[in-house]
Amino acid sequence: MYSSWEELENACKTCKKCKLCGSRTNVVIGTGNKEADLMFIGEGPGADEDASGNPFVGRAGKLMNMAFQALGINRDEVYIANVVKCRPPNNRNPEEDEVNSCLDYLRCQVMLVKPKVIVLLGNVALKNILGKDYGITNSRGKWIEKNGIFYMPTFHPAALLRDESKKILFWKDLKEVKQKMNNF
Ligand code: URA
Repeated sequence: MYSSWEELENACKTCKKCKLCGSRTNVVIGTGNKEADLMFIGEGPGADEDASGNPFVGRAGKLMNMAFQALGINRDEVYIANVVKCRPPNNRNPEEDEVNSCLDYLRCQVMLVKPKVIVLLGNVALKNILGKDYGITNSRGKWIEKNGIFYMPTFHPAALLRDESKKILFWKDLKEVKQKMNNF
């Protein structure tokens, strides 16, 4: 484990632990307030994120920004990261060996940020953080407390782009998060 951001970021930038390193343009480590009370975890970088080095800057990110704006969540005040730091080709789901190679970086980010609340965006984040028995359909919108952190699983914003009817539940879940943050 890495005890500082510098160590962690250097390790990520030079990482060759899985095959995704061969096709990446940038390692997408995370963005935002490194002392945030609220953290968001997505799946992995897409083409726009790979090109820019920042998470959630493409279509899914723009949708997330709209929700943030509507709910009064300041993107600069939260911390945003992904399960895997390098883009899986053709936006496929990250494979198990890729997730296993990368997960220590995310665990370390959580340790350093020390958030009170983590929003898990989609099944890849939910299953790899809380366990394979969880599924987004049953777990979304429900608080899960573990080791002093409150987790809120919700849909991945890319799922909203495929199915607009999910937007209302995504909004509802983030509203719940906003309310929780106000009550700390
Ligand atoms: N989807 C993700 O899961 N993460 C990103 O950073 C962008 C799209």
